[in-house]
Amino acid sequence: MALISFVKLWRRKIRKAGYLKDQNGIIKRYYREFDNWNLHIENCKSFIVNVTHESHGGKVAILGSGWLLDIPIKYLEQKFDEIWLIDINHPIQIKRKYENNRKIRFVNYDLTNGLVEKAVNANTFNDFNIFLNKSELVNLETDFDLVISINLLNQLDILLCDYLQSKFKLNITVLTAIRKRIQQNHIDFLKKYNACLITDSMELLIDDNSIVEEKNLIYCELPKATQIDSWIWLFDTNKYYHVKYNTSFRVKALSF
Ligand SMILES: C[S@@+](CC[C@H](N)C(=O)[O-])C[C@H]1O[C@@H](n2cnc3c(N)ncnc32)[C@H](O)[C@@H]1O
Repeated sequence: MALISFVKLWRRKIRKAGYLKDQNGIIKRYYREFDNWNLHIENCKSFIVNVTHESHGGKVAILGSGWLLDIPIKYLEQKFDEIWLIDINHPIQIKRKYENNRKIRFVNYDLTNGLVEKAVNANTFNDFNIFLNKSELVNLETDFDLVISINLLNQLDILLCDYLQSKFKLNITVLTAIRKRIQQNHIDFLKKYNACLITDSMELLIDDNSIVEEKNLIYCELPKATQIDSWIWLFDTNKYYHVKYNTSFRVKALSF
């Protein structure tokens, strides 16, 4: 009974902060933009296949696994003994699909290391900020042969900053410092492992096929990579994400 209440309470908090709505939005946009998204998804999968082609057994963690759209899951099942899917929430459809798969383990975890709960609970921005400044790196209390961070890095700061901004009305300087801290913690965590990072790096606003604005989405230095790739993801061609423009992302993939 106590456990059920705890899970319910946790879902209430992440719903309040917008995480469940955002995850549902991903799958809706995926079907709306099917062909455009598939190019990006195939690029993600190819990069992961290249990074793992010499792997034999062991444990892989997938951070931001969500709907598993961008993960070559069948391929990874052949390569690894254990696949840990780590996300703040796992869609019920994905849990049902893989619940009897003995290689796959689901972990519900806030990869900002508690900042989401703190943001929801905080009565003042200062409460949150004290916690942020003391925040430590995520500790998953187990080792991994490979950690894959998949289309997550800037989601960590964007979703949380959107919530903080609506709750506390913060200025751009404060928001930028929060973004930097969150991203730096994530990169520092990844650097402890053999890691693969795939992330949006620039947001491109498009009007009549030309770029009208470019926005940087990375607030810290990315690690030196042994393999690297980059491509454009046609994210929204229906002006849903921005009312006036279509949106694309420049995506970077690195292994280190
Ligand atoms: C853009 S999606 C990545 C795509 C995903 N692989 C898929 O196929 O759905 C970002 C994922 O990161 C998760 N996420 C966002 N913030 C998180 C956090 N603080 N901790 C853990 N997961 C988070 C979201 O729930 C979502 O599933």
